[in-house]
Amino acid sequence: MKKYLAVLTLLAGYAGLWTLSAQTAWQAPPEADALQNPLAGDEASVKKGEKIYRSLCAACHGATGKGDVPSMQSLNPKPTDLTSEAVQKQSDGAIFWKISEGRGMMASYKNMLTEEERWSLVNYIRSLGDKSSGAVKDKAQSAGEKEKKKKQNTNTSKAARRQEKASASYVDAFPFTVLINAKTTHIMHPKGFGLNIQHRFGTTKFDEGFVTNFMGLDLAANMRFAFEIPYNDRLMFEIGRTRYGKFYDMGFKYLILRQTADDRIPVSVAIYENVAVTTEKPPVYSENATFANGTLFEYKFYHRLSYDNELIMSRRFGDRFSAQLTFQLVWRNLMPYSAKPRFKNYVFALPLALRYRIGFSQAVSLEIMPNNQPKNFPVSMAYEVASSGNHVFQITVTNSDRFLAQNLYTVPTFHYDKDGFILGFNLIRYF
Ligand code: HEC
Repeated sequence: MKKYLAVLTLLAGYAGLWTLSAQTAWQAPPEADALQNPLAGDEASVKKGEKIYRSLCAACHGATGKGDVPSMQSLNPKPTDLTSEAVQKQSDGAIFWKISEGRGMMASYKNMLTEEERWSLVNYIRSLGDKSSGAVKDKAQSAGEKEKKKKQNTNTSKAARRQEKASASYVDAFPFTVLINAKTTHIMHPKGFGLNIQHRFGTTKFDEGFVTNFMGLDLAANMRFAFEIPYNDRLMFEIGRTRYGKFYDMGFKYLILRQTADDRIPVSVAIYENVAVTTEKPPVYSENATFANGTLFEYKFYHRLSYDNELIMSRRFGDRFSAQLTFQLVWRNLMPYSAKPRFKNYVFALPLALRYRIGFSQAVSLEIMPNNQPKNFPVSMAYEVASSGNHVFQITVTNSDRFLAQNLYTVPTFHYDKDGFILGFNLIRYF
């Protein structure tokens, strides 16, 4: 209990600090100015930017970009007036950087939108400035650039390093840390933390129960919630709790390789390790029950533990499609014996996860998880209803109501045709 409180206090403190830092003026780092707008002067990109702006940004920054949406006025800071001189005088690179990184309520769009889409937004924001904004921009840019050139001349190696740093742009195959059940190679923004809620209702099929049990929503439901705490942009920790099995789990993910836009690194590779402890009452067997090897059964603490080890490889293909393959080894210290089907202590699985983005804030996903267990073949689908860089809401259709690999692979899954399916949702929010 004490430990739990300590964690909560830590998280609250973390969130507090982070909110405090958001009160100060927002300054893009100098290397952002070195980013070159590849779409500068491209008329078509303004139209494209406008389309994205309407679907993702207007709700906060207003239809005309003035940040005058009444319901947003209580935010601190308020959504910025994008037509203001304070914004228009910044370099394209700085605006691009801010859209990419985000801060506070302003989400990071780097994993949601392609570079081209973000540059289109920059061009659209430029078009929002008053008619003289072109001149303002030119002045600002040329003044800024002149100064930069001066600096560059005096210190070319430093400038070159900056340019290189700015242009080493990474591609993130998935905008969130978990797709449906599969951990992805994504690490959330290092400032802040994530809350991840997974929820699965009861089994349903298209019969009378579909109506009387309201698609299974009336039945017992399983749920996992987890805090995700980033350490930096490659390492994150998580603590989770699952209802079925009364599991507490702790894990970390480390990003070894990051896919780059220029394909010099074609894939992202991460490792994920997790240990879970079940807090369920020990199983009750007859007095002379034995382990599979014949020794007398005795319940020890380590029987509560189980482990998940993953090597995750992902790649984004183009703007919309991402795929991921994982080598997964799961171990349960105690696997209750049943004659049929006979589950093993260890699981070797090869989960495949696919995501296809529709429009700018919706996506469909599919997960297929072949493994060596009997009567177990998780296949899940999801529809992302409305995602932004800060949150995602997914409606899921699965053939299992389990989440943790230790549990997902060690109970039978349903047959979609015979047994029906399970509706649920995933809710991920980054703070
Ligand atoms: C949930 C509301 C919200 C949404 C949606 C949103 N923003 Fe923002 N935006 C903000 C807030 C709040 C700030 C001020 C952040 C700060 O200063 O800490 C901001 C700041 C910015 C800035 C930086 C202005 C500056 O120089 O200080 C830019 C640029 C921007 N937003 C562009 C966009 C674009 C483009 C989109 C859509 C892709 C978008 N925003 C979506 C709330 C939002």
